[in-house]
Amino acid sequence: MIIAIDGPAASGKGTLARNLARHFDLPHLDTGLLYRATARALMEQGRNLADKAAAIAAARGLALTDFDEASLRGREMAEAASIVAAIPEVRAALVELQRAFARRPGGAVLDGRDIGTVICPEACTKIFVTASAEARATRRALELSAQGGRTDYAAVLEEILRRDARDKNRATAPLVPAKDAIVLDTTALDAQAAFKAALAIVQGTRSVAARG
Ligand code: DC
Repeated sequence: MIIAIDGPAASGKGTLARNLARHFDLPHLDTGLLYRATARALMEQGRNLADKAAAIAAARGLALTDFDEASLRGREMAEAASIVAAIPEVRAALVELQRAFARRPGGAVLDGRDIGTVICPEACTKIFVTASAEARATRRALELSAQGGRTDYAAVLEEILRRDARDKNRATAPLVPAKDAIVLDTTALDAQAAFKAALAIVQGTRSVAARG
C-alpha cells in the first residue's frame, strides 16, 4: 500500500504522513529532506544555489542515510531547497531513490510536492493537503515561537507565499494535485481531526481498490 501525501509548506502534510505511517506500520519518507540535503551540500561547498552542475552532482551523491534532520529543518534551508528543486536534473537524480523507498514490501508513506503526480502515480491513496496561506503562516509562526525562535508573522507569510509560487510555477513537477487525488483542506482542522479525515480517505480508497 503506497500512500502519497502532497501539499504546500506548513499544510500539515508531514504530521499527517507520520501519523498515517505509524497507524499502518509503514515506513515514511519526507521527500523535502532530499531537496534540503541537496541544498545543504551546496552551501557546505560554498557554492551558489544557482550552480546547476554542482546541484546536480550533490543530488546524485545523496543517500537516504544523509539526513541529520535537525540541521535540515530551518527556514533558510526550506527556501534553498525550493530553489534547487526547480532544477529538472536535480529532480531526475532523486526519482529512483524515492521510488525504491515506495516499492518496499508492504508499501510506504511518502510526502512531498510531486508524489502523486510523478514519483508514485500508481499510489492507492493520494491526498493533497492544503490550508489557507494565513492558517499555514500562523502554524509556522507558532512552531517557531515554541522552539524559541524569532517570530515575525508577516515575514513567515511572505516566505510561504514566495515558496508556494516557486513550487507551483516551476516547469518540472510543479506542486499540483494529481487528477485522482483527494483534497483535504486542514484550514479549520487540528492535527487529530486531519488524521481522522485522512484515515477515512485511506479506508475509502482501499475499499474501492478491493472491489477492483
Ligand atoms: O516539504 P519541505 O518544506 O521540506 O520542502 C522543501 C522544498 O523542497 C519545497 O519548497 C519544494 C521542494 N520539494 C519538492 O520540490 N518536491 C518534493 N517532493 C518535496 C520538496
